Amino acid sequence: MLPKKVEEALVSQIVKEGYSSNLYLAMASWAEGQGLEGISTWLYVQSEEERTHMLKLIHYTNERGGTASIPAFEKPPVEYAGVKPMFEQVLKHEEFISASINEIVAVCIAEKDFTTQNWVQWFVNEQIQEEKSARAILDKLKILGENNLYLFDRDIMSLRAAEAANEAGA
Ligand code: FEO
Repeated sequence: MLPKKVEEALVSQIVKEGYSSNLYLAMASWAEGQGLEGISTWLYVQSEEERTHMLKLIHYTNERGGTASIPAFEKPPVEYAGVKPMFEQVLKHEEFISASINEIVAVCIAEKDFTTQNWVQWFVNEQIQEEKSARAILDKLKILGENNLYLFDRDIMSLRAAEAANEAGA
């Protein structure tokens, strides 16, 4: 049985991962509307990934005897000031998610729930990748400059493919 405080931390993370999925979906839709096909594809894929994170938390919470209640999600912004500010927002959001995952680890330790502490390590590692990936995009944007969005839009999916290859080889 999950300690109550661990259950609360997991349910709160379900809200955050679900919101992340919707936030990236909103960004994807905005980018698609701007004709930025590569960027929107990257964001649609990212949105799906966040949904799988949410599902992982839902299944685990229920399997351990908790109740994974499903919240209403806050509406994400519709408009974005540009590609660079949007990806700065992605990085900031991922840093916020990393802090939240660390908080779950802290709750698990305080509650002596070492099973969940062990399980949540997957998210700890995932956050290293998520932040790295957002930073790599911002670095690339810096190199190309915002005026060269055509090249960036063409190349962004290759960044994801390179990451996947690195992870597979790691
Ligand atoms: Fe599931 Fe990007 O945090």
